[in-house]
Amino acid sequence: MTVRDNKVFFGDMSANKLTEQFGSPLYVYEYDTIVRQYNRLQEAFKNADTLIYYACKANANIEILKIFNELGAGIDAVSPGEVFLALRAGFEPERILLTGTNLTEEDIRYAVDNNVPVNIDNLTMLKEYGSLFAGKEVSIRLNPDIRAGAHMYLETGHRDAKFGILKNDLSRLIALLNKVDAKLVGLHQHIGSDITEIEPILSGLDFMLSLAKEIATIRFIDIGGGYKVKYYADDSETDVMELGRKVSERFNTFCHDNNRQLKLIIEPGKYLVSEAGYLLTTVQSVKRNYNKIIVGTDTGMNHLIRPALYHAYHEIVHASRFEGETEKVNIVGNICESADVLGKNRVLTRSKRGDVLCIKNAGSYGYSMASMYNARLLPPEILIKDGTARSIRRRQTFEDLLSTY
Ligand code: LLP
Repeated sequence: MTVRDNKVFFGDMSANKLTEQFGSPLYVYEYDTIVRQYNRLQEAFKNADTLIYYACKANANIEILKIFNELGAGIDAVSPGEVFLALRAGFEPERILLTGTNLTEEDIRYAVDNNVPVNIDNLTMLKEYGSLFAGKEVSIRLNPDIRAGAHMYLETGHRDAKFGILKNDLSRLIALLNKVDAKLVGLHQHIGSDITEIEPILSGLDFMLSLAKEIATIRFIDIGGGYKVKYYADDSETDVMELGRKVSERFNTFCHDNNRQLKLIIEPGKYLVSEAGYLLTTVQSVKRNYNKIIVGTDTGMNHLIRPALYHAYHEIVHASRFEGETEKVNIVGNICESADVLGKNRVLTRSKRGDVLCIKNAGSYGYSMASMYNARLLPPEILIKDGTARSIRRRQTFEDLLSTY
């Protein structure tokens, strides 16, 4: 995104031109930003034998997946649907890891039949896996009992979370491993999202390494994702360089001291795509109520649920007149829900019907969490590469509302 002539531009087109051409609302992704973020992580973890598995739940547009395939990433998938998309995008099956929650036998079979490794989340499933797929390799998701993440909904590695095999099940796990006919090759954790502190991730790593020491068949350690980006200029972010340095150091020391050759896997989602994405929306109404100005748009919580669900802050800039006389406003969506607020008490250039606004950090968990609530259609997505825009998903039509009948 750049600002020229007081307007927001993507490549050689203004936001206004883009919405004229592709319609509004519109998801816009910048190829260069995705590559920049990928390169940063590669650089940060370059001292360890690291594989970057893109957590495609963040944004599973197949064209975005293809970019990561070209960059040499693997895929963290959490459902057979994500496995399907990753395979269609061209990923080698062994570069995909299915880490599902409450997977059905059918889900697991889909992965196994397609040679995609499965990461098991509980002991019952591990036992079943052993009897269904005798002798096969498997990895397990551990719950290291660590609290991390920016919101209670974003914490996944503590004892009350539904994820992973708990520490107090370790003796049962070891007993089961001796009985079950499966080869344990990997240990995995994902403790939360928007984590800024490095210590919790390191504690989880230590826990996994202590277990790996006892299990000779372990080939990889997967520390998950959760690295935070800035949502506004002074916001906090994960220092990925320091994270990479510290994780690599600990990991390498373990491998050296124990004469093991392990692979390190990281599973970033948000870090790779959040800043690359924008949601363009058009102002439909401006209400000057008693003590509030309410700017109504043509998108909403159906397209970007993060503000409603996590009270997440997404910066919103005026794309038609970047600077000008400002006023304090609430920016709301067009969904019949009072939670449908995209930004509260924002200082924004005075808006009028037809103006285009640009919501930032919409590249992760935007479209992928979007719904068709209120029978509103899903917006198109475009990719900006080499200065030009290309459609990577069409806008839905009313016919799509009938396509599953
Ligand atoms: N690995 C696993 C197993 C995960 O479950 C997740 C995210 C990730 C990696 C990637 O996390 P990230 O690097 O993107 O933080 N919808 C929320 C985030 C929930 C993520 C759930 N799992 C949000 O919009 O902030």
